[in-house]
Amino acid sequence: MMRQAGRYLPEYRATREKAGSFLGLCFNPELAAEVTLQPLRRFNFDGAILFSDILVVPYALGRNVDFVTGEGPKLEPIGAPETARSIRKEVDHGVLAPVYETIGRVKAVLPDDVTFLGFCGAPWTVATYMIAGQGTPDQAPARVFAYRHPDVFDDLIQVLVKASAEYLIRQIKAGVDAVQIFDTWAGVLPPEEFSRWCIAPTRRLVLAVRDAVPDAKIIGFPRGAGSSLERYVAEVPVDAVSLDWMIDKTFARERVQRVKPVQGNLDPLALIAGGRALDESVDAVMRAFSDGPFIFNLGPGITPEAPIENVERMLRRVRGR
Ligand code: CP3
Repeated sequence: MMRQAGRYLPEYRATREKAGSFLGLCFNPELAAEVTLQPLRRFNFDGAILFSDILVVPYALGRNVDFVTGEGPKLEPIGAPETARSIRKEVDHGVLAPVYETIGRVKAVLPDDVTFLGFCGAPWTVATYMIAGQGTPDQAPARVFAYRHPDVFDDLIQVLVKASAEYLIRQIKAGVDAVQIFDTWAGVLPPEEFSRWCIAPTRRLVLAVRDAVPDAKIIGFPRGAGSSLERYVAEVPVDAVSLDWMIDKTFARERVQRVKPVQGNLDPLALIAGGRALDESVDAVMRAFSDGPFIFNLGPGITPEAPIENVERMLRRVRGR
């Protein structure tokens, strides 16, 4: 249920209010641990995902990051190559220290049979927010910037590979069992650019994490990759891949799940509708993937509008009761 998932729960909204701001919540270990654990109390999930956000990395690189309610994240955009060049090359782990403390607090109380997931954004996706300063329909500002100033853009990607690797390594050392790399905007890239800005940097990121933690468990999520997923699993040495709801299930089973375990891929909007549409969507996912290595999940996260009783209905159906 991860990926900006907290908002469907009233207890999340109450804690967020108490924290004041979204980043204030991310950097408050007591409240962030509480929010991480809330869904587990209700639903007895098999996994917990750290409460944080992919945009804490640009924040720890010294960029302004703000979360405006109802509007999403706002960063200071990067228009000129000089601005990109002036960005700090190293993250400030002092800024991220509360995240590592949150992990320790959650780990201390999490039952042993619940998997604890950490995460970061993939370099491409984080860079798109840094350039545009926000989410846009197809992250055109970053794509134009990368065509116009490929060397400067590549330098920014390198900074993000290093920062993200250090961030994931510290999360693992603090106690998460596995980490997921969210490449939310992978799908807007044409195939050649997908190799250059999604596959290559994610590969370097995974190898850097493995260099420090050889048995690190890593899940990749190149959202919207479509048929390029086949190349992604061949070239990025992740342990598993997350599937979005748009992917053809037969293709995903034959070309992806045969190579790597998969996670996914219920359409989150089926959870808003509920009823028969939800049941049929759950069944289709189970039919497609449950004969192989598989984690049932949304592809991607739940929306704030999803009624809690539909979540309960989905869980009963997945668990066969
Ligand atoms: O599910 C969880 O609560 C786990 C923690 C988590 C959050 N963000 C908390 C969050 C995770 C794993 C993320 C990942 C994330 N953040 C991604 C990648 C996954 C995806 O959804 O594609 C991206 C692109 C972001 C950046 C981001 N953060 C956006 C675009 C937004 C605005 C979303 C919106 O519709 O308003 C956020 C805010 C955010 N991150 C919220 C949460 C719980 C909602 C903030 C709130 O409380 O209002």
